[in-house]
Amino acid sequence: MTASPRPLVAGNWKMNGLKAQLKELAAMATAYDSALRTKVDLLICPPATLAPLAAHTALGSHIAIGAQDCHAKASGAHTGDISAEMLADAGLTHVIVGHSERRADHGETDAVVRAKAIAAKRAGLVAIVCVGETEAQRRAGETLDVVGAQLDGSVPAGFSARELVLAYEPIWAIGTGLTPTTADVAVVHAFIRTRLGKLLGTDGASVRILYGGSVKASNAAELMVVPDVNGALVGGASLTAADFMGIAAVYR
Ligand code: 13P
Repeated sequence: MTASPRPLVAGNWKMNGLKAQLKELAAMATAYDSALRTKVDLLICPPATLAPLAAHTALGSHIAIGAQDCHAKASGAHTGDISAEMLADAGLTHVIVGHSERRADHGETDAVVRAKAIAAKRAGLVAIVCVGETEAQRRAGETLDVVGAQLDGSVPAGFSARELVLAYEPIWAIGTGLTPTTADVAVVHAFIRTRLGKLLGTDGASVRILYGGSVKASNAAELMVVPDVNGALVGGASLTAADFMGIAAVYR
């Protein structure tokens, strides 16, 4: 029997936050006391403009700082893009790849997401690979087919549990206040766990699988105890220390 992976509560600030927002990060750092640190890892992914400042703010707090995207190449003529190497150089340790908003807004395919995950590993960053179905796909009963295809296409072979985090984010649950039932979450997370085993061998058992989509302090307790839910990827509720630490507190 493999021990459960250590949980991770990650915040994705998306395109939100000016410098003043960093006071919320500072408050999170204060609230992340030694007792909570023994129970759960915390990560905040601010917009790129705040990333180095956030890394500085979080210094010594044990809150990791990540990015929301990276380019697959290490450097070159790619105006506006940022490489994984640059993120690592700025003090970041994680990068989200393949978020549904990037898949939709920037046409990112599974192959692109996979290349970005490989870039993350090359730079020494943990890749947080996102998958999830649309509302129409869920209604059509295609959830597992869609998620399975995304996993097959986006998760590179040979990744260890230290190099990869998986996030299941049903698109219809993002920013809507809707969440799947805990039974539905259990089905998808068990499916992802099995597929990760096929793709990664024994490492698949210890890759953390986060649930994302309208996670709040009020629903985190029931979602975080679902088998194979090893934490949360939080959007809106990661913008204030009170909300985010309320979610982390379910692991106390
Ligand atoms: P919300 O928590 O705002 O629904 O966003 C989830 C998400 O997309 C995190 O990456």
